[in-house]
Amino acid sequence: MSNRTALAIGLVSILGTGAASLLAQTSGKSFEDMSDSFAKKLLKDGKEIFRHDTLGSEAFWGGTLKLHQAIMGEKLGGVGPGISPKKALELGLKVDVDAVPKEVAEGINAGKVDLTDPANTLALLKAEAVIGVKGFFSDDGKTLTGVGIQCSLCHSTVDDAFAPGIGHRLDGWPNRDLNVGAIIAAAPDLSALTDMLQISEAEVKKAVEAWGPGKFDAELNLDGKAFRPDGKTAATLNPPAFGLAGVNNHTWTGAWGTVSYWNAYVGNLEMHGQGVFFDPRLDDAEKYPVAARTKQGHKEKQGKDLITAKLPALHFYQLSLPTPTPPNGSFDEAKARKGEVLFNEKAKCASCHVPPIFTEPGWNLHTAEEIGIDDFQAMRSPDGRYRTAPLRALWDTEKIHKGGFYHDGRFATLKDVVDHYNSHFDLQLSDDEKTALIEYLKSI
Ligand code: HEC
Ligand code: HEC
Repeated sequence: MSNRTALAIGLVSILGTGAASLLAQTSGKSFEDMSDSFAKKLLKDGKEIFRHDTLGSEAFWGGTLKLHQAIMGEKLGGVGPGISPKKALELGLKVDVDAVPKEVAEGINAGKVDLTDPANTLALLKAEAVIGVKGFFSDDGKTLTGVGIQCSLCHSTVDDAFAPGIGHRLDGWPNRDLNVGAIIAAAPDLSALTDMLQISEAEVKKAVEAWGPGKFDAELNLDGKAFRPDGKTAATLNPPAFGLAGVNNHTWTGAWGTVSYWNAYVGNLEMHGQGVFFDPRLDDAEKYPVAARTKQGHKEKQGKDLITAKLPALHFYQLSLPTPTPPNGSFDEAKARKGEVLFNEKAKCASCHVPPIFTEPGWNLHTAEEIGIDDFQAMRSPDGRYRTAPLRALWDTEKIHKGGFYHDGRFATLKDVVDHYNSHFDLQLSDDEKTALIEYLKSI
């Protein structure tokens, strides 16, 4: 008799057959099967949640802001001119061509679908084709009764296969066209935000309209700081949500926590979904006056918790998204090889951006001074630091890095980034070396 069988028989006599069958399920090969199928389930569920789950956010975006009324427009029973498909695309919203009903796609191709009519936005919402936005309809299907948002709103885009803004989903690719601020400003009822921030409606509009395309301010609800001392918006670029496996500390300023922390934060405090959230750091009334006053670090269960049970799958799905590789011919290979040596040696980039995750294994945070920029955004986070951005898909400035580099896009090109480091660290790179380094950056 093997030791394991003896143990199982022993357990049966002590604990009964239930415990023994549990042992059988969790031992050896069957436990491996169990973890394999768990991984498959997390991947499948996570994709679904990332793409389609509103986490109960319709209570806020529809119920409170009444955004659905602005989408419908006066003619269909809402308010204002409505948001036509053309307008939606101008606001940076993306359309999933795989969800567009065939007749509608044919109609668009034949020029028979009026893209200036909000009724056609409703048709797209009904087909769940507007990425990141879910419409709720009356029983007769004619009236939009509410609207909720999904992670994919800011963290997915499309490949434009059908037309600009209409194509197949690219999950984890940031939407750098999306003007969330303009969408919020169009909402008929901003009282939830004027109450939370204790500012006027005009001030709320001014704050969110300043964000512009590809940016969102994920800390305004904590510190109420809408503008930086230089008068520019305090919003940051929507970051990629791929290539994050192995990376510690998330967001541009890092010290909030892991991907899982941030997912819970966003689901509860940004999307205003229905869940539970705990972070006593937000009780710091000096640093986070709005959060402390509104007790955002102590969100208790109200009704059904629509977020917590989804965190494992959501986490897993994000970690499974790879960094897209550069297309053939998008960089000069010989120069990139020279650049790699510079990256690791003379230019000292790898002292922080450690390949192949391109951030430090461990506590990957630095002061503003270390990297030679202002500390405004860093000081809004618990640790007062910037996270070493994991370098991902730097070759793509059309979508992924549209809007520039660093948290606020302050450097328009990789050349600007390299020039900045060259002078800040006094690297004394020649023009040829700079070019080589840039070609290497485009290869990762
Ligand atoms: C309205 C736009 C928006 C929505 C919706 C949104 N995010 Fe984000 N997300 C951002 C912005 C902006 C940041 C950067 C925040 C910062 O650095 O302060 C961010 C940061 C992140 C990060 C950190 C990425 C990194 O490089 O470390 C993750 C992970 C993430 N979001 C996941 C999610 C998930 C999951 C959801 C849905 C539950 C979601 N986000 C919904 C805009 C959004
Ligand atoms: C002291 C640590 C450190 C060193 C050394 C360093 N970086 Fe960085 N890097 C950072 C931090 C921190 C950020 C994030 C800045 C921000 O978000 O504003 C960053 C951001 C970047 C970005 C922008 C990424 C994005 O997604 O926008 C690029 C590109 C970059 N670094 C390249 C380099 C190169 C090339 C070198 C070498 C010449 C280098 N870094 C050296 C810490 C470092």
